[in-house]
Amino acid sequence: MSFKTKVCDLFGIEHPIVLAGMGGVSTAPLAAAVSNAGGLGVIGGAMMGAERLRAEIRRTKELTDKPFAVDLLAPDPDIIRPQIQVIYDEGVKIFVAGLAVPEAFIGEMHERDMTVVVMVGKVRHAEKSAQAGADVVVAQGTEAGGHTGLVGGMALIPQVVDAVDIPVLAAGSITDGRGMVAAMALGAQGVVIGTRFIATHEAAAADCYRRELVEKGSADTVRTRCYTGKPARAIRNRYTDSWEGRSEEIEPFPIQAMHSQQAGLMSYAGESGDGDPDQLFMPAGQGIGMIDSVKSADEVFQDILSQARQVCASGPLRA
Ligand SMILES: Cc1cc2nc3c(=O)[nH]c(=O)nc-3n(C[C@H](O)[C@H](O)[C@H](O)COP(=O)(O)O)c2cc1C
Repeated sequence: MSFKTKVCDLFGIEHPIVLAGMGGVSTAPLAAAVSNAGGLGVIGGAMMGAERLRAEIRRTKELTDKPFAVDLLAPDPDIIRPQIQVIYDEGVKIFVAGLAVPEAFIGEMHERDMTVVVMVGKVRHAEKSAQAGADVVVAQGTEAGGHTGLVGGMALIPQVVDAVDIPVLAAGSITDGRGMVAAMALGAQGVVIGTRFIATHEAAAADCYRRELVEKGSADTVRTRCYTGKPARAIRNRYTDSWEGRSEEIEPFPIQAMHSQQAGLMSYAGESGDGDPDQLFMPAGQGIGMIDSVKSADEVFQDILSQARQVCASGPLRA
């Protein structure tokens, strides 16, 4: 059976499974693998300067001839203007905005026939995105890895679906086919998956990070401002515990993120070798308890799709 929805036609993809544009982790090999599997690969451009982003886009084009997107964190349009120019120069057709509605760019992106996707954690942000002209919103529940709000996906997804007239995708701890079917039952036209794709061979991730994803369980994440200054869900460790009761000492975003960068806490993508799991920022959703091995991205993708088909054919799965 096919899960094809309108959003698949909009993106030009076969299956409504989208890779989360995870800054530093979703680089060309992972984005291309998801696109080649028939989903939408998304390059996580958040930690990349303009020329690194250009190189990553070009590498993705070498690895796939299928559609792909670029994600950037959009709270300050001036900061991302150089990366946006690269997106235009390279003819990328789909843009995903994290942390803010990219109002400054939506008009010019539409003039270029681009599709604009906005990550949201509240109904009000979904409405604001739709009013600003976004084409798709992603309802991201609090159980998601990375920067995340307070509303659980089970509550957020249907309320966002009811609030806007544009397609809604769902994100937050969607880790297998059961999660995909559940999200679509709530009205989402597809899913955005992050954490499950970090435990793959193609992801850019420090070895200790992949290991922790396999070993930790559903209660081992914490929503903390201590790494970036904005609430982000990450694997709980000695460093996150050390900030308990001291939240007033945390600087706002992006100052706290710069401090963390200088202290070497943000190299979860493994760019400077393996990290110290007691200190490192390791963004992860509560679905980590369902991750028990590192696989290829294509295997993860096919497993999700075939389990989703099985659920639809035979009802809830039991062990
Ligand atoms: C390591 C990591 C980095 C992330 N970086 C970004 C980012 O740069 N931009 C963004 O829009 N979302 C980012 N996110 C959030 C994802 O887009 C997505 O909402 C989330 O991964 C979904 O939840 P899941 O990880 O439980 O699947 C990140 C998530 C993780 C785990």
